[in-house]
Amino acid sequence: MLRRSFIPLGASPLWSAFAQTVAANPARDEKFWAIIRKQFPLREGLIYLNAANVCPASLPVLDRHQHFLRDFEADPSFQNRAKFGPLRERVRAVAAKFFGVTTEELAFTRNTSEATNTIVHGLQLKAGDEVVIVDDNHPSNNDSWKNHAKRVGFTIRAVPATQLIESPEKLAELVEGALGPKTKVLALTHVTSSTGVVYPVARLCRAAKEKGIWSHVDGAQSGGMMLVDLRRIGCDSYSTSSHKWLMGPLEAGVLFVSSGQQKNVWPSIVSVGYSEDGKGGARFLEAYGQRDDARLAALEATFDFLNMIGMEQVEARVRQLTTHLMNKLSENPRVTLRTNRAPELSCGVVKADLPQVADLRVLDQTLYKDHGMAFSVTPAGPIRGIRISPHVYNSLEQMDAVAEAFRKA
Ligand SMILES: Cc1ncc(COP(=O)(O)O)c(C=O)c1O
Repeated sequence: MLRRSFIPLGASPLWSAFAQTVAANPARDEKFWAIIRKQFPLREGLIYLNAANVCPASLPVLDRHQHFLRDFEADPSFQNRAKFGPLRERVRAVAAKFFGVTTEELAFTRNTSEATNTIVHGLQLKAGDEVVIVDDNHPSNNDSWKNHAKRVGFTIRAVPATQLIESPEKLAELVEGALGPKTKVLALTHVTSSTGVVYPVARLCRAAKEKGIWSHVDGAQSGGMMLVDLRRIGCDSYSTSSHKWLMGPLEAGVLFVSSGQQKNVWPSIVSVGYSEDGKGGARFLEAYGQRDDARLAALEATFDFLNMIGMEQVEARVRQLTTHLMNKLSENPRVTLRTNRAPELSCGVVKADLPQVADLRVLDQTLYKDHGMAFSVTPAGPIRGIRISPHVYNSLEQMDAVAEAFRKA
């Protein structure tokens, strides 16, 4: 049996201090979030607002990562490294609980791109088949299908991107309308990185299942940002990255493949540890040869950190920050919001344009240099704008500062 007390996280002074502080502050008020902010190594003066790209790992997570890395490097013998197998399984158990699935349904990848591409290349598609994608998907869940289609000969049907649609029902109808008799895969995004559209994934995966279509959900922007119950969503596969909203170590990812569907996926990489007997569940998709064991072991702290706050509270906080920001920005007549303000249609990501500003890249640089604000920018096109994606380490005050900087821009 793998016991959670195998290496007690509480043994780390950082962990015990964090756990005690959380326990002593039950209210999720500004004081509490200020405590959370102190758990991150973000430099003084930086207003980091690019969670949709990469999040900092918290100090307790860094501490765990460093601990395991030093342990590994101090004694890379098989004897010492034997601990990492059980540790990886312990992480799998924590991750499975986090996403509401079983340990047999999770594989550890290096990121969302790799997890999604495992599905793209692993499903046995042929000429005449069709894959439905959404134009808003990230290239790893969009160009990957197009590229593979060239080799295999299946066709792609792309649903147009729809940032400002009136309801989740309309959004669902748009995607459902694209599913046809030849459709074998529906490749969705849970929350888009461009403007934060929340897709009605549970309804869409149900529609796909009724038609015998594989549903894949890219969860790079939902894992760690909102409560994700994969059983409720009902997808066949789901991918996410540790280094985004989960605030875990860089270059780690999670791939979920539902147990009944694993037999339909070919592994992209086969190396030591690979087994065809089906007994290892989704583990056959993570046999890449030597892995960074320390990083995978540190993933446990990633989930523990979020669980300590509570995922419902994390999502509520992100929504509080983005709602506050959108309210402030919409008081400014020069700002055009590209993000839908309805809570059921967006989460975590705010895209705001200042059409009078000729080059947003220049403004983006100025905001970083003069105000210490770090964003992502889309310089042209229908979703032109500055992307603001706050997380639990940001404050309402920082949202006010962004609105003020936009007012002066
Ligand atoms: C929606 C979405 N999918 C996939 C990715 C790729 O994530 P990674 O670079 O961690 O593979 C991103 C990155 O921004 C993303 O926003």
